[in-house]
Amino acid sequence: MSKKEHVDIVVIGSGPGGYAAAFRAADLGKKVLMVDRDADLGGVCLNRGCIPSKALLHISKVMNEVDHLSNIGVSFSGPTIDLESIRAYKEKIVSKLSGGISQLAKARNVTTLCGVATFESNTQLSVKTQSGDTKVSFDKCIIAAGSTSSMIQGAPKDHPSILTSRTALELNDVPETLLVIGGGVIGLELGQVYASLGSRVSVVEFLPGLIPGADDDIIKPLQRHLSKQFESIMLSSKVVSVSPKENNDLEVIIDTKDEKKEMTFNKVLVSVGRSPNCALLNLESTDIKLDSDGFIIVDEYQKTSVKNIFAIGDIVGNPMLAHKATHEGKVAAEVASGHPAAMDARAIPSVVYTDPEVAWVGLTESEAKSGGVPYEKGEFPWAASGKALIINAGQGKTKVLFDPETKQVLGAAIVGPSAGDLISEACLAIEMGSDVDDIGLTIHPHPTLGETFLAASEVYSGTITDLYIPPKGGK
Ligand code: NAI
Repeated sequence: MSKKEHVDIVVIGSGPGGYAAAFRAADLGKKVLMVDRDADLGGVCLNRGCIPSKALLHISKVMNEVDHLSNIGVSFSGPTIDLESIRAYKEKIVSKLSGGISQLAKARNVTTLCGVATFESNTQLSVKTQSGDTKVSFDKCIIAAGSTSSMIQGAPKDHPSILTSRTALELNDVPETLLVIGGGVIGLELGQVYASLGSRVSVVEFLPGLIPGADDDIIKPLQRHLSKQFESIMLSSKVVSVSPKENNDLEVIIDTKDEKKEMTFNKVLVSVGRSPNCALLNLESTDIKLDSDGFIIVDEYQKTSVKNIFAIGDIVGNPMLAHKATHEGKVAAEVASGHPAAMDARAIPSVVYTDPEVAWVGLTESEAKSGGVPYEKGEFPWAASGKALIINAGQGKTKVLFDPETKQVLGAAIVGPSAGDLISEACLAIEMGSDVDDIGLTIHPHPTLGETFLAASEVYSGTITDLYIPPKGGK
C-alpha cells in the first residue's frame, strides 16, 4: 500500500465488531481498509479473551464431568496437567480462527494494515506501521478500537505476579495461590480455570454479590459450586493495598465486613472492569465527544458527534460484549454505506461461561423490582428435567418473566450447563414479541434442556404436567 491512500471506509480495530463492520461494508460495495495494531486479526475476543478463555473453560468443565463419573461407577486415574499441550490446544484454535479472518478479508478485497491509527482531523488519520507512517483520508470511519483491563489503585503496575485477563490467559504457570480481585465475569471464569488446574483461588468482591447485573437466585447454584472449588469468596470486601515481596509473592490487605486481613498470594488477577481504548486515537484532533466515563457518545445509527465517523463495541460503553459489537458493527457499516439501519435490538444477552453457566436476557427481577416494572414469572427447576438429571445438572433453573397484561416475554434467566446456548430462544421470543402461548404451542424436543424454557412458560400459564402446582385458592 502507498504512503497516502483514500478509502471509502476505514475501520479501526479488527475485533468481532471491527471485522463485521469491514466485511459488511465491503459486501455492500465499498472500498474498505481495516487497521489493527495487532498483526493477528480478531481483536481481544479472539486472541486474548472469549475464545482462549472458553477453550480453557472447556477443559475445566470436562474435568468436573469426569469427577461426577467417578460417583456413578466410571473412574479414571487423577489428571496430569501438561501446560504446554494445553497452551498449544488453545493457540491452535486461536490461530485457526484468526487466519480465517485474514482469508475472509482477502476474499472480500478488504485491505488490512498493521499499525496504530491516530486521527489528524475529521477526515484523515495516520497509521504508524513498522515501515513508516501511512496517511489515510476517508469518506467514513468506523472506530472499533475496544477496551483494556482497568487496574486498581494501590497495586503496582507491570509486576509479573499481577495478572490481567490477557496475561492470565497466557497460562505461563499455575500458581499455588491466586487472589482474584473482582467477582465479575472475567474473575469467575478465569478463577475457575485456575482452580481446575490446581490453584487455590480466593475471590474478593466489592459488592455483596457475585456477577453484578444477574439475579441472586440465578447466581446461587454457581456460587454453591464455586464455594466448594475456591478457597474463599470474600463479598462486600475491598482490597486496600497490594505489595510485592522479595520473592515476587504479593502481600494483600483486604478490608472485609468484619476485619482487615493481611494475606499472601503467589499471583493476583485484577478483573475489576475494562476501560475504553481512546488514548492512542488522538480524538482531540476531531470533534468526537466523550461521555463522563470516557466512552465515545453515539446515536442509534452508531454515529458519533462527527457525521462521517461512527463508533461501535466496547469503546461506546456497556455492555462490553462481542455479540453487541458485531451487531453494532453491521449497523454502522450499513448506515455508512447509505442503507437504512439502526441499533434497535430489544435485548442483548449476557452469558458467564463458568460451570454451571449463567445466562440472562431482557428484564431481570432485580431491575423490575428496583424500577417498579410490573411482571409475573414462571420458573422451572431442573431437578424435574430428565435431561438435566442425566447430566448431573439438577441444580439448574430456567426462569421467564412475563408482562402481566400482554403475557409477552420480558426477560429470562437460566443457570446450568449450556445456559448460554439455551438463552437464544428467549432472545428470539423477546425480539419477536412472543407471548406465553407462542412458547406453549411450540413443540420442544424431549429429552432436552431446551424443554425447560417451555416448562417455565407452562408453569406460568398453569398448563404444566411435569410438575404438580396446586391451583391458586385451592381446589
Ligand atoms: P465486570 O464488570 O464483569 O466485574 C468487575 C467486578 O469487580 C464487579 O463485580 C465489581 O463490583 C468488582 N470490583 C470493582 N472494583 C473492585 C475492587 N477494588 N475490589 C473488589 N472488587 C471490585 O468486569 P470484568 O469481569 O473485568 O469484565 C470486563 C468486561 O468484559 C465486562 O463488561 C464483561 O461483560 C466483559 N466480558 C464478558 C465475558 C462474557 O461475556 N462471558 C467474558 C469476559 C469479559
